[in-house]
Amino acid sequence: MKVLTIFDTKHGNTKRVAELIADGINSVEGNETDVVNVKDFDLSEDKTYDLVVIGSPNHVGSHVKNIKKLIKNLSNSAVKVNSFAAFDTYMGKDFEKAVKKMEKQISEDLPNSARVLPGLSIKVSGMKGPIVEEDLSKCKEYGIKLAKRE
Ligand SMILES: Cc1cc2nc3c(=O)[nH]c(=O)nc-3n(C[C@H](O)[C@H](O)[C@H](O)COP(=O)(O)O)c2cc1C
Repeated sequence: MKVLTIFDTKHGNTKRVAELIADGINSVEGNETDVVNVKDFDLSEDKTYDLVVIGSPNHVGSHVKNIKKLIKNLSNSAVKVNSFAAFDTYMGKDFEKAVKKMEKQISEDLPNSARVLPGLSIKVSGMKGPIVEEDLSKCKEYGIKLAKRE
């Protein structure tokens, strides 16, 4: 399965989650993912992805502008997305708040793309992180599940 893992980050934690998810995906034979910062992604590439995994930090209760723009622009781009999964990083009480909004936007803007698994929400212990210990192992596990489509 050809996968794109794409993220935005301010302090590096969402990037770290993306890399750990990618480790999980790449550990399952027959799967391969690129890990790309949204700022470096070329929307004019004529590519088809079996799965796109999109990650964002929670900023003020939602996914960040760059990710909102990415999702919107994907619908009018040459990039084809057959299925998706989403993840967020958050602080405090906002478990799953941004990822749910992201999933809603993806479903609306990319109606031909199916969600393969419920989104992942990873807690950080302060604005700048780090990722809380008990959530670290969930990241690679999620990647493995995505690759196996469990
Ligand atoms: C401008 C801003 C607004 C934020 N708002 C929220 C929020 O409403 N809820 C929340 O749980 N975390 C909030 N956070 C904390 C971020 O979720 C946290 O900094 C982020 O997960 C760290 O990821 P990163 O290292 O990839 O930037 C906010 C952070 C920033 C910088």
